[in-house]
Amino acid sequence: MDAVKIADDIYWVGAIDWNTRNFHGYDTPRGTSYNSFLILDEHPTLIDAVKAPFFTQLAQRIRSVIDPRKIEYIISNHSEPDHASGIRMAQALTGGAQVFCSKMGKENLRMNYGDLDVKVVEDGSEMKIGKHTLKFLYTQMVHWPDSMMTYVHEDGILFSMDAFGQHFASSKRFDDEVDEGVLFEEAEIYYANIILPYGPQVIKALEMLKGLDLKVLATAHGILWRKNIDKIVGKYMAYANYSTEPRAVVVFDTMWGSTQIMAELIADGIASEGVPVQICRVSDTPRSTIMREVMMSRVVILGSPTLNNGIFPSVADIGTYMKGLRPKGHYAAIFNSYGWGAGTTKQMRDLLNGSGMEFPFDDLQVQFVPDEAARAKCKEFGKKIAQKILSG
Ligand code: FEO
Repeated sequence: MDAVKIADDIYWVGAIDWNTRNFHGYDTPRGTSYNSFLILDEHPTLIDAVKAPFFTQLAQRIRSVIDPRKIEYIISNHSEPDHASGIRMAQALTGGAQVFCSKMGKENLRMNYGDLDVKVVEDGSEMKIGKHTLKFLYTQMVHWPDSMMTYVHEDGILFSMDAFGQHFASSKRFDDEVDEGVLFEEAEIYYANIILPYGPQVIKALEMLKGLDLKVLATAHGILWRKNIDKIVGKYMAYANYSTEPRAVVVFDTMWGSTQIMAELIADGIASEGVPVQICRVSDTPRSTIMREVMMSRVVILGSPTLNNGIFPSVADIGTYMKGLRPKGHYAAIFNSYGWGAGTTKQMRDLLNGSGMEFPFDDLQVQFVPDEAARAKCKEFGKKIAQKILSG
């Protein structure tokens, strides 16, 4: 396996994980990659290790351009196992290269991988490794407290860690070499499932990047950006500000079909006002796909049947997941189909409390199979949601 040159004396030496289909609960139908980089200079430097089971790929790619024992420095931008669980092996491969990381990185590396000889680099500090100058930018909570980015002045390359990533395995490395529709879809799914809770921290990070000449955004996952830098940065700024589109998503599950009838009629009411709407049945749709729809939609309509006087388990699952990702600035609407015990809608509201979503609509509950009057109410519910969207 060979390294891929991304600039003079700078190589991608990462690992492609074609087969993973689940990344801590996030469905990854296109696999992923753990991107590492090698800078050849007076003090050869490795940027990040990879996930430990993929270390052989890293080692082979390094060997394709340099004897690994010549590497003197390893920059660890982030301690999460997908980028750092191979760090001990990387140190051994290089014969003891010095590891550099952020202040919090030092402690997190120790807690995850045991005692390592690491040196802390300060936020905003610079390090000459020969003809290249590395600048370290702390980007706390994008995506862990220890995260930082490393910028190479001379080449305008930003090793941006998780930011701008996608879970997208490919034999290609750059955004102008792959289908842009797929790339942006995966980047949006990634933001919705990994970065969404950290809007203020993303804005802070983007502010830091403003003065930099960016020629390549070398993310730690998926495809590197060189053609669409402004576009992906613009999207990050929009999502970090929790901006939404005038559309809606109905997220539901069903037991005997009544909640599905309600979901479809509500969506019909929304669409009848000219507002785009997507329906996602939870048991048939990956959480990560649903979260992209949630992130982009102004109104999220959550529907559940009542089971044992409570929320249907799959709906409780997506509600818990959604709440954790805190889609602020969205409106939520609740609907429920029940048999004999009303009250599940309150549990659904309680579940989403703390998500940052507002509840401007009355809940809609229907007993057993919706009759003509109930069907009309569902459609009307959808129309009201659409009118709220259209009114801004
Ligand atoms: Fe890709 Fe936060 O690790």
